[in-house]
Amino acid sequence: MGMWFFFAFTFLGVFSTVNSGSPSDHAALLAFKSALTEPYLGIFKTWTGDDYCLNWYGVSCDPDTRRVVDINLRGESEDPIFVKAGRTGYMTGTISLEICKLDRLTNLILADWKGISGEIPECVTSLPSLRVLDLIGNQISGKIPANIGCLSRMTVLNLADNAISGEIPASIVNVVGLMHLDLSNNRLTGEVPTDFGKLKMLSRALLSRNQLTGSIPQSIGNMKRLADLDLSMNRISGSIPDLLGKMPVLSTLNLDSNSLSGQIPPTLLGNTGMGILNLSRNSLVGNIPDVFGSNSYFMALDLSHNNLKGPIPSSLSSAKFIGHMDLSHNHLCGTIPVGSPFDHLEASSFANNDCLCGNPLKTC
Ligand SMILES: *[C@@H]1O[C@H](CO)[C@@H](O)[C@H](O)[C@H]1NC(C)=O
Repeated sequence: MGMWFFFAFTFLGVFSTVNSGSPSDHAALLAFKSALTEPYLGIFKTWTGDDYCLNWYGVSCDPDTRRVVDINLRGESEDPIFVKAGRTGYMTGTISLEICKLDRLTNLILADWKGISGEIPECVTSLPSLRVLDLIGNQISGKIPANIGCLSRMTVLNLADNAISGEIPASIVNVVGLMHLDLSNNRLTGEVPTDFGKLKMLSRALLSRNQLTGSIPQSIGNMKRLADLDLSMNRISGSIPDLLGKMPVLSTLNLDSNSLSGQIPPTLLGNTGMGILNLSRNSLVGNIPDVFGSNSYFMALDLSHNNLKGPIPSSLSSAKFIGHMDLSHNHLCGTIPVGSPFDHLEASSFANNDCLCGNPLKTC
């Protein structure tokens, strides 16, 4: 009889620990919940009971340890909870520091809630397993934590569409596995770190719509996996590094609405992998390099609103495809070449130059 009780209690003891997970994770989740308000969908109404691994909306656990590994809360989703409410999400409040007690967290996604404010808790940089930090589409302010570089496993950092200020921390280049960086549409100032090119795994670097200054770091030219670079709508000056045209997989380059000067590197226009190139609204000078060829394939080529002079290069007519092209608001002069890339273009693509003529403008 005594023996039976002993086993029964041992069994129940083990069973109940396993079932309710970690009391500290449970407390951290409740603290996280209490700092946020989500009035329309009732997401946090599911965050009740002891077993946070079961049916707490957006929470996932490691099945063996029953520690929290994911918080995945997106304010725009096809999930039934959204369909039922017939609207997108809205959430206010702040991100509790208690989140940092979830020390097995790999994904922290609090995206598109429109109203979450306050700062990114500095302590998230001590979460050893964090891979994805996605806080897009809120009203988060303050700075990016200075020691973000401690997040050595991070692959995705998305802080776009918030009100984050200060500089891009120098330590960011230590996040060696970073693949996707989106800091667009914030209030970032200062320069892109000189050694940004140390981010060897980065495939998308989206930094548009901030107040970044300084020049484009030469080191970016060493990024072998960078496919999409967007520095548009900042205050970046200096010339465009020649190396940008020699990057193996760069196919989208948006540098529009900055203060770039100097000439367009010929490598940039001659690069047959480049599909979208926007250099509009800068202070670029010189001729458009005559380096297009039969493998040139541009979905969009926008060189408008610069100080480019000389003729439209005749090699452009040999391009395989030019979808959208805008050369307007420059000082170009001469006859518009004939050829298939030009057949579908409208006069507005060539408007406001010094002395261009020929189809689709008036005859010379
Ligand atoms: C290029 O950038 C300009 C200015 O930022 C913008 O107005 C234009 O629509 C962009 N062009 C294309 C083809 O996206």
